[in-house]
Amino acid sequence: MGRHAGRGVSQAGPSLFYRMRTRALVLAQRALATHGPIEHRGVSLVVAPGVHHPAPFLGLGFGALQEAALDLLAPGASVLELGTGAGFWALSAARRGFEVTATELPHVPLGPVAEASERMGVRVRLLHSDLFAGLGGLRYDAILFNPPFHDAEARSTEELAWCGGAVVRRCLAEAPRHLRAGGALYMILPRLDRERYGDGLAGWSVRVAASRWYPLIGRAELLALR
Ligand SMILES: C[S@@+](CC[C@H](N)C(=O)[O-])C[C@H]1O[C@@H](n2cnc3c(N)ncnc32)[C@H](O)[C@@H]1O
Repeated sequence: MGRHAGRGVSQAGPSLFYRMRTRALVLAQRALATHGPIEHRGVSLVVAPGVHHPAPFLGLGFGALQEAALDLLAPGASVLELGTGAGFWALSAARRGFEVTATELPHVPLGPVAEASERMGVRVRLLHSDLFAGLGGLRYDAILFNPPFHDAEARSTEELAWCGGAVVRRCLAEAPRHLRAGGALYMILPRLDRERYGDGLAGWSVRVAASRWYPLIGRAELLALR
């Protein structure tokens, strides 16, 4: 695929430092990621070729932040994960008894996630959908998103997993229409990238629910947005 057309444009162009950091992190992800079966925090997954690896390197993975979000949910909550990739967050939520729907872009195979849910004996509704497009007017108690947080245009299908400032902005704009009263959007953003989304975050009440320092990425935060 050629250059992916972004649907939103950042207010100011990224600095040279930011662009270099994006390229370095994308190259690191690409170099470290492998595909095949993995065991990630007690969940058996299969990472298909070209699918984002949830933990490509020792210490590099947002599993702890993702579990911290699930700790905050009320029993039986309805949960939507956007961009589930290999499925860790959605499957972990289903394992805890939440009612889970998970989406992905059409080029990402959802078969491995479906097979993992069968192995685990849990139910996840899976569908291909560009963010909320395939969900009609459905609303959820919690929306989970580990987004393609680099504020840059993807240069290939593979990079859609990491580069998507326009996707982050669209999610921030559209999520309120898919939350139930009292619900929250849980989004993972490195602190350095969060600065890029000030306009989109302005309408939300933002709470840092958990944070961790990661090699290469710096401090990443689980934001609870209401
Ligand atoms: C950083 S990866 C996270 C994958 C997985 N949730 C995880 O935590 O390991 C971002 C994911 O969002 C997906 N994605 C990107 N743009 C999307 C969109 N417009 N709608 C749905 N998913 C999208 C990508 O395909 C990718 O799998």
